[in-house]
Amino acid sequence: MLILGIETSCDETAAAIVEDGKKILSNVVISQVNLHRKLQGIVPEIASRRHLETILPAIKQALQQAQLELENLDAVAVTYGPGLLGSLLIGLTIAKGIAYSLEIPLIGINHLEAHLYANFLLYPEVTPPLIGLIISGGHTELVYLSKKGEYEVMGTTRDDAAGEAFDKVARILNLGYPGGPAVEKIAKKGDPQSIKLPLDHFKKETLDFSFSGIKTAILYYVRNLEKKGEHIPVANLAASFQLRVAQMLGKNLFKIASSKNIKQIILGGGVTANLFLRSFLEKEKPSNIEIFFPSPELCTDNAAMVAACAYVKIERGETSPFSLDAQPNLSL
Ligand code: KG4
Ligand code: ZN
Repeated sequence: MLILGIETSCDETAAAIVEDGKKILSNVVISQVNLHRKLQGIVPEIASRRHLETILPAIKQALQQAQLELENLDAVAVTYGPGLLGSLLIGLTIAKGIAYSLEIPLIGINHLEAHLYANFLLYPEVTPPLIGLIISGGHTELVYLSKKGEYEVMGTTRDDAAGEAFDKVARILNLGYPGGPAVEKIAKKGDPQSIKLPLDHFKKETLDFSFSGIKTAILYYVRNLEKKGEHIPVANLAASFQLRVAQMLGKNLFKIASSKNIKQIILGGGVTANLFLRSFLEKEKPSNIEIFFPSPELCTDNAAMVAACAYVKIERGETSPFSLDAQPNLSL
């Protein structure tokens, strides 16, 4: 079965073709990062206008790379939330047009679920029950997967998402946009133990996260040095921040995996691309637990994960009506 995946929820226009939910025939991502860099963040209206320009070229390229024609497709999958409304509507409208004209099924996909599916695409040995952690620009979700397609959210962020924290810290440290890769790069030159940053302090036992305290601590640290006209240890701050985020994520991840006696953990979302975080979690994990990370190009937004997710939906008989609407605040 050949599924065309379409992803336009944020600032990447992506189209991919996946065969039988496993084999990536093409995976095209047209990034808007240079466009948004100038403004140090994503401007929703600019993002949707750019999707409008690039979505058809992305689909055309995906078909060419897979050496297929539109008529060869068996289904069209598209992200319908969460994300920016205008951006989601572009992908959704194109997907409906293709599915309608070819008389093939349309499958609406939850972007968060798709991030986890990047693992099912790569690792056949990954099977539920398992614990998933989605860490992206807008979300931090710790989930228990009893079966493919069935989720229980165990923990979420009370303030900033993990990626958002990286982006905000990068702004404080003048590292540019997007923040995650910039923080990771400079952190390599720093000492993660050099600056003591706060941990999340919840009054009650919880699997939730909070990243705004570390971000604020960094802001005050920098302001204080600026006032005194002293040097700002950017690399040490970036490295210390990264370590704290990794510790917070690891703590809850391993706590829930152990309490549910889970042997496999899967990660997904842009922050998963961070190599320091990956090696920290690999080092700290209990020896009886395996952790799976998507390959770098499948960590950040892409349409292969959308098509892979749709294959399971079709197997479960879950296709979408043509009245499917965009849901900017869709949760798992
Ligand atoms: O999943 P994603 O591509 O888009 C959303 O669904 O949000 O995630 C984007 C987020 C951004 O906040 C970006 O700074 C972060 O992922 N990110 C990283 C890295 N690469 C991307 N964060 C830390 N380290 C990285 N190497
Ligand atoms: Zn994403």
